[in-house]
Amino acid sequence: LKTIVFVFHPDITISRVNKALAKEIGKQENVTVHYVYEAYPNEKIDVRAEQNLLEAHDRIILQFPLYWYSSPPLLKKWLDEILTHGWAYGSKGKKLHKKELLLAVTAGDSKESFTPNGSVKFSLNELLRPFQATSNIIGTSYLEPFTLYKVGHLTDEELSETAKQYVTYALNPKLEKLAD
Ligand SMILES: Cc1cc2nc3c(=O)[nH]c(=O)nc-3n(C[C@H](O)[C@H](O)[C@H](O)COP(=O)(O)O)c2cc1C
Repeated sequence: LKTIVFVFHPDITISRVNKALAKEIGKQENVTVHYVYEAYPNEKIDVRAEQNLLEAHDRIILQFPLYWYSSPPLLKKWLDEILTHGWAYGSKGKKLHKKELLLAVTAGDSKESFTPNGSVKFSLNELLRPFQATSNIIGTSYLEPFTLYKVGHLTDEELSETAKQYVTYALNPKLEKLAD
């Protein structure tokens, strides 16, 4: 099983958490890490190249920091451009069918804030529903997202432990059950 991690961080050089996660998972055999912002500094996406990468892997991880309860904008642009009719969807568009899709999301807010009585009021799984709906249409198996909260408070030690947990989960993830 071949895994590819698409990292969407607008500036990986100033990232602490996403950089550490990507570096750790990149050490694994059969894992490719692709830094999308860095691949396209002018945000002009090579659609065919991205589709080729997707076709060559079985498990697709989209890793990003939460920005205003959504993804950084290049991920949206990337989805808009690469998920073409006849390739990702439509009666002849089955290239991603049966592949696995895992979101790995880092958040500054605490886990409690993503509860009905917390400041955000919605869980991260709820906020990520557009990705899950997209997954349903393109025929990927949507895995339970890997989520990290309050990442600004992680010590170096906690961060390296967390990066190891990310790798463990990413190599053995669970299917999402739409519970919350
Ligand atoms: C423009 C911007 C928007 C953000 N929006 C959110 C948000 O909506 N919710 C949240 O929990 N954290 C938010 N954050 C915090 C980031 O998610 C956090 O800094 C990031 O996950 C840390 O990862 P990094 O070290 O790889 O940059 C935001 C940060 C920035 C810069």
